[in-house]
Amino acid sequence: MSRWRDEEWRKGMKISFDFNHMMSESVGKTDGVTASEVEALIPKARDIHEELSARRRSGDLPFFDLPYQETGPVKELADWVADRSGNFVLLGIGGSALGPIALQSGLRHPFHNLLDDAARGGRPRMFFADNVDPDHFTAMLDMLDMDKTVFDVVTKSGGTAETMAGFMAAKKRVIDALGESALKDHFVAVTDPAKGNLRKIVEDEGYRALEAPPGVGGRFSVFTPVGLLPAAVSGIDIDELLAGAAYMDRLTSVSELWDNPAYMASALQYIADTKKGKHVCVMMPYANSLKDVADWFRQLWAESLGKRLDLEGNEVNTGQTPVNALGATDQHSQVQLYMEGPNDKTFTFIRVGRFREQLAIPKSYGNMEGVGYLGGKTMAELINAEQSATETALVKAGRPCCRITVPEVNAFTMGQLLYMFEVMTAFSGGLYGIDPFDQPGVEEGKLLTYAMMGRPGFEGKKKELEDLSGGRERYIL
Ligand code: PA5
Repeated sequence: MSRWRDEEWRKGMKISFDFNHMMSESVGKTDGVTASEVEALIPKARDIHEELSARRRSGDLPFFDLPYQETGPVKELADWVADRSGNFVLLGIGGSALGPIALQSGLRHPFHNLLDDAARGGRPRMFFADNVDPDHFTAMLDMLDMDKTVFDVVTKSGGTAETMAGFMAAKKRVIDALGESALKDHFVAVTDPAKGNLRKIVEDEGYRALEAPPGVGGRFSVFTPVGLLPAAVSGIDIDELLAGAAYMDRLTSVSELWDNPAYMASALQYIADTKKGKHVCVMMPYANSLKDVADWFRQLWAESLGKRLDLEGNEVNTGQTPVNALGATDQHSQVQLYMEGPNDKTFTFIRVGRFREQLAIPKSYGNMEGVGYLGGKTMAELINAEQSATETALVKAGRPCCRITVPEVNAFTMGQLLYMFEVMTAFSGGLYGIDPFDQPGVEEGKLLTYAMMGRPGFEGKKKELEDLSGGRERYIL
């Protein structure tokens, strides 16, 4: 029996959300949230809950139900990929890459690609090409034996410039190395089931492909084949991951604001932003394995909540600015600012209850007080002590903090964590009165890129660009 099917084990693996230090009792009324400010949101929270539940029931928000999907087709394609490749390269950007990266760095060996075949469990080395930096991309292709490489082209829209450019460059490499007839064995795709250029290419050229569900936006797609295929290729137990998400679904389906961790996390950030001037939210995991969760969250929070217009069309310019930091590393980089700079931030710490390794610090330098005290402790104790110490110091300085504790980092807890953040973000859309599922602000940049790259139909945009960039020599040194 899989361990996540055991109710007792699941209880021990429940992530916890401690928001004591977001409250006025800890950091004072000017910076902290009061219980009555939370109470005042209860009617609105009930309405949002009703609306989200109704939209879920009507099939309008399919991301909610992803934990319950059938994973057979994903596992089948993942095994096909793993059986025939030593290297797996994901070509995708934004929501089509950040979830897969977070799962890989959270759940696989931190040096997965340096392990030998047996230590990797026969799974391929994993690469995530989410940029069009020509130096980086060429260097990656140069390192890979095309004969042993499978590329996974991931784009929901099927036409994102960065992803398609990467696909075209990789395709030429495969043709040059192995010939046109080899393509079908070296490319798979995840894209819309019916629409878009990539879907057409998949059909014309005969690649194996999985569906990016039409109603699920990129940044909510980690539990679709976008995130599940690379995870399964790498050897992650995707059923355990989805079981974790389903477990969190239970915890976040309750309507009461005080009892729902995702709603509560959302309400606290909303009050902090709109009433206490905390326009920046810092997420600081104290574990390298969770660093990319903060990176994934940064996109989720920024792209979902950073909106010019509310649902009535009023100009509102909403959204906290998400910032990532890594503990303990960034204590030596950012914390001076966090302690003494503008009090315009909230802090969300993520800490790990039990690390995979404890790593004892050997007893030595007993006669040197400033070093010897470390001996006999573990590195796990040290990093968690640093988390507590930083949080306490910030609280003493009147900076609101909350803490998520992950009992251990595994597929089940990762599923909980990511699902909780998705529900938190969807709920925040309701609090701000904006649409958290669109991203009109990134469109203009895309259109101007098309114009610069000579895409037919975008000549007008090219003119706009020339008009704006001309005649400013005075301000260029
Ligand atoms: O969250 C989003 O919707 C975006 O970040 C997209 O994931 C990103 O723009 C890539 O889009 P696509 O998957 O269509 O290539």
